[in-house]
Amino acid sequence: MKILLILSILVTLGSAEQTYNILGIFPHNLVSHQMMFDPIMKKLANKGHTVTVISYFPQEKPMKNYRDITLEDSSVELLNSIPLPSSNESSFNLYYEFYYMLELGQHFCEVGVKSATIRELLNSDERFDLVVTELFTNNCLFAFAHKFNAPVVGITSTFLHWDYNKIGNPSNPAYISDNLLTMGEHKTFMERLETTLLNLLHQTFYDYYINFKNQKVSAEVFGRDLPLLSDISQNISLILTNSHLSITPSISLVPGLIEIGGIHVGDVKKLPEDIEKWINQSDHGVIYFSMGSLIRVDTFPEEKREMFTNAFRRLPQRVLWKWENDTMPEKPENVMIQKWMPQLDVLCHPNVKVFITHGGMFGVTEAVYCGVPMVIIPLFSDQTTNALTVENNGGGVHLPYENLSEESIYDALISVLDPKFNKKAKALSDRFKDRPMPLLETAIYWIEYVARQGGAPHLKTAAIGMPFYKYLLLDVIAFLLLIVLSIIFVVYYLANPKL
Ligand SMILES: *[C@@H]1O[C@H](CO)[C@@H](O)[C@H](O)[C@H]1NC(C)=O
Ligand SMILES: *[C@@H]1O[C@H](CO)[C@@H](O)[C@H](O)[C@H]1NC(C)=O
Ligand SMILES: *[C@@H]1O[C@H](CO)[C@@H](O)[C@H](O)[C@H]1NC(C)=O
Ligand SMILES: *[C@@H]1O[C@H](CO)[C@@H](O)[C@H](O)[C@H]1NC(C)=O
Ligand SMILES: *[C@@H]1O[C@H](CO)[C@@H](O)[C@H](O)[C@H]1NC(C)=O
Repeated sequence: MKILLILSILVTLGSAEQTYNILGIFPHNLVSHQMMFDPIMKKLANKGHTVTVISYFPQEKPMKNYRDITLEDSSVELLNSIPLPSSNESSFNLYYEFYYMLELGQHFCEVGVKSATIRELLNSDERFDLVVTELFTNNCLFAFAHKFNAPVVGITSTFLHWDYNKIGNPSNPAYISDNLLTMGEHKTFMERLETTLLNLLHQTFYDYYINFKNQKVSAEVFGRDLPLLSDISQNISLILTNSHLSITPSISLVPGLIEIGGIHVGDVKKLPEDIEKWINQSDHGVIYFSMGSLIRVDTFPEEKREMFTNAFRRLPQRVLWKWENDTMPEKPENVMIQKWMPQLDVLCHPNVKVFITHGGMFGVTEAVYCGVPMVIIPLFSDQTTNALTVENNGGGVHLPYENLSEESIYDALISVLDPKFNKKAKALSDRFKDRPMPLLETAIYWIEYVARQGGAPHLKTAAIGMPFYKYLLLDVIAFLLLIVLSIIFVVYYLANPKL
């Protein structure tokens, strides 16, 4: 009996998992992105790791094993701030948008690196076993990975072209589109040409302009002897990305690229009473309409707003509209406006039949999870890609902003309200949920894996840092061509000895 007891204690001790001191760095003031990082960092703390998180979004309630280092930035207020395009064109230009994004990234770099809380951490004698950081528009706080000589796990809400070469992942423009590009997987010659040129433009701009600016700011704080941030960031062991083949196109994945698309989807909770009642009492179901957390929909040009209200008046369904104003001019009877709604809980209510959305990845994911068909009106960033993918997968229809009219809105709604469409959306939801392991467990497993292994460079391919002529086999192709040409030449001369 005693022996058994001792044995079982030994077994318990032996299997007690090692815990680590983990630093999370999330340097972008974007609340939707944080929705993806929060559950992961909290779960790590729950499992007994000591977690320190640098971000703009501290926890409301203190948590065991979890410490916040809060960044503050009063100069950009992004929430509900972006006005809608006023003309019939979508105002966001493919060739300008990435520039805007990266300049915003540079702003967050400066705010982050120069903040007092960061200096405090820098001057402390704390040590970390692992750094978990967001990959998006800047590499600045990668300097911490160097300072602590700790392995790095990246998390990204959208896998962008300039992150592919950090782990040597294929990014062949023949079939892989960067999330910022607005085309599907099956490309025409012109689309392949455009993808190739945009990839080159993005990479060059990132490597030779943004990296340089990031480096300058970081070196002011971390010291002149800071190695190149581009080199430090290529030391990354693993990237967890917000994609999955139910919501994004299938791409080739190296072992160090792990898909955790949908990890932000938590438990469905009970709705506020007034909203639930409104949804319950609609005999023909409800259309939920939200353009996300960044856009101010009350900046809708009047003519566009009227297209929607006119289309809604023709439908028996009720409409729940996220609208950031107390009033809406000429609001139809069947429309309820709310400044904020718990989106997942609304979408998963069985009486919600359609989601009209701008196609942000997080909202799209929630609708796919709940099996609600979408009408997607993309505006910028990865939204067009998301719209095309959803349409391709049977989860909804794509309605370009410049195509908006009462008729096109009405037609799009009628087509997705069809029960046949609902069936397709439910099938997509099944595909989304059919995974080998709960997503949070997948993420935690791989983060702990990197800590256990003390870094995991073996998860990346040898393509990293390879000159492009080698990667594209240009030298081999040239050599083979030369041989073939020589043979043709020799044969030709042997056959015509008189020449
Ligand atoms: C948008 O297009 C509609 C229909 O083609 C037209 O009536 C309207 O004047 C246009 N608005 C602007 C701002 O160009
Ligand atoms: C990359 O990681 C290795 C091993 O952890 C370390 O020796 C090296 O200094 C790192 N390089 C940079 C530029 O941080
Ligand atoms: C809405 O309907 C559900 C299911 O019939 C019911 O459980 C819930 O109490 C209703 N809520 C309200 C506010 O009427
Ligand atoms: C709400 O809309 C009214 C009328 O369109 C406008 O005058 C007012 O400024 C808006 N309020 C806010 C907070 O945007
Ligand atoms: C948008 O409108 C143009 C011109 O009418 C049309 O060719 C195109 O197919 C429309 N796009 C979609 C996705 O409906």
